[in-house]
Parts: sequence; C-alpha cells; structure tokens
Amino acid sequence: MRKAAGSARILVAENVSDLAVKTADIFTECAEESVRMKGAFTVCLCGGATPRPLYGILARESDRFRSRVPWERTHIFFTDERYVPPDHPDSNLRMVRDAMLSRVPIPEENVHAIDTRLPDASRSAEEYERLLIRFFHLGQGEQPRFDLILLGLGGDGHTASLFPGTEAVRETRRLVTQQWVDVLGMHRITLTLPVLNNASTVIFLVSGGGKAGTLRAVLCEPRSDPPLPAQLIAPREGRVFWIVDRDAARSLEEGTRETGG
Ligand code: 6PG
Repeated sequence: MRKAAGSARILVAENVSDLAVKTADIFTECAEESVRMKGAFTVCLCGGATPRPLYGILARESDRFRSRVPWERTHIFFTDERYVPPDHPDSNLRMVRDAMLSRVPIPEENVHAIDTRLPDASRSAEEYERLLIRFFHLGQGEQPRFDLILLGLGGDGHTASLFPGTEAVRETRRLVTQQWVDVLGMHRITLTLPVLNNASTVIFLVSGGGKAGTLRAVLCEPRSDPPLPAQLIAPREGRVFWIVDRDAARSLEEGTRETGG
C-alpha cells in the first residue's frame, strides 16, 4: 500500500469479492491486535450494499477469517441506522444479522444496535448516545475510541448518515444525532464526526464505477466548499484505509493507487 492524500492509504481490489477479502484481512488483524492489547475488540459496522460480501466471508466456516475473529470478545456497534423497524428490509441491523451475526458465535449482549423501536428518531439517537457513554465509561466531552470503524461512500459524498449540507455534519457536541433525509424520505440516526474521527482505524469500502467521480473528488481534489462529508474523515490519532475496486478507482490519479498487497 502506498500513502495517498493525507494519511489515507489506498488499496485497489480486483472486484467486490477481492475487496471483501482485503478488508477481512485488516478486520481480523485489528480484532486480534485489540484483544491482545485490551482484551476486547470494538467495531462499528456500516450499512449499504458494499460491505455485505465482507460480512458474509467473516461468517463463512469455509473461509479463514471466521476462526480468527475472537467473537466472544468482539463488540459490534453501528455507524448509522435507518429509522425503520429492526425487521424492515432497509434496516442495517437486519442486513448485518442476516449476513453475519446470525451465523457466528457472538454473544447477543455483544451486539449494540441502535434501537429504532423507540417512539421517534431523536429518542433512538439519545438512547444510543447513552449506550456509548455507559459502555466506554465516558466523561463530559469525551468521545468513544472504536478500534475499527467501517464506512461507505455515497455518490453525493455522504458517509455513515452524514449527508451534505445537513446539520448532522456540523454537529460537534453530540456523539449521535439524527436527521430527516429528504432525498431518502426517511429519518437516519448517525454517529457524528467527532466520534468517527476518534477511531483507531477507519476502513472505507467503495465499489462500482458510479462512485469513481466522487472517490476522485474525495481523494484527489481540493476540499469542496462546503466539504463533502467523506472529506472530513481524518482521525486525529488513527489510520484510514480506502479499499476500493478497480471500477471505483478508474478516475484516481496514478500516484494514489496501489494494487495487490
Ligand atoms: C447506509 C450506509 C451508507 C452507505 C453508503 C454507500 O446506512 O446506507 O451507512 O453511508 O455506506 O450509502 O452505500 P453502498 O455501499 O450501498 O453504495
């Protein structure tokens, strides 16, 4: 891997399956290291279509990853959630449960979902913030430090549920917030930038030619005004990997991509 813009490191995968394998390698390394150092692994999963193959190979008996993940000591959180019931087809929790959690020996109490059964999205956000404060024993003004956060990239430059031009992007006091997203016609609950930028490791997973222009804008061009939310992900004391497939990488400048590794 070679350094690209800032401290981000970019790895180009052949296709979505290879993207999943490359990500699973880093995922399991983070998990093993975190448990070795602290006795636990805290990871925030994102939603969308791109990470689903990753969740599948982490759970598959036939793959080398399942046995390497210390499931008993792994704590699963979510970067964001759609404000829909947990069994709704759009629910990130449902997608992650179906693809991975229902197939691995992770204790139920280690899955820390955003509770969307509460009366409204604001209550869901407030309750998740309280859950993070309790779990990480946070004092006033402190943020949780996740060992690993997985993020996707929307065509409009959004990540998690931080959409361009919304209040959520500008939220710096709360750990979790929510907003109505007009273009989606739904409420989204999301971790805020201070939390995402406090991660030890962030991995962006990006696939498909439709993201090529946005990926180039985020990685190769000066910050937009206002910046794209994904351009604001820069952990102060952490590392960022961009694991992208060839189609998504096709507009990157030569110097910012590396294959293999
Ligand atoms: C979500 C995600 C969202 C996603 C991007 C990319 O809940 O949908 O958190 O930020 O990562 O929209 O989605 P795809 O992987 O489906 O392109």
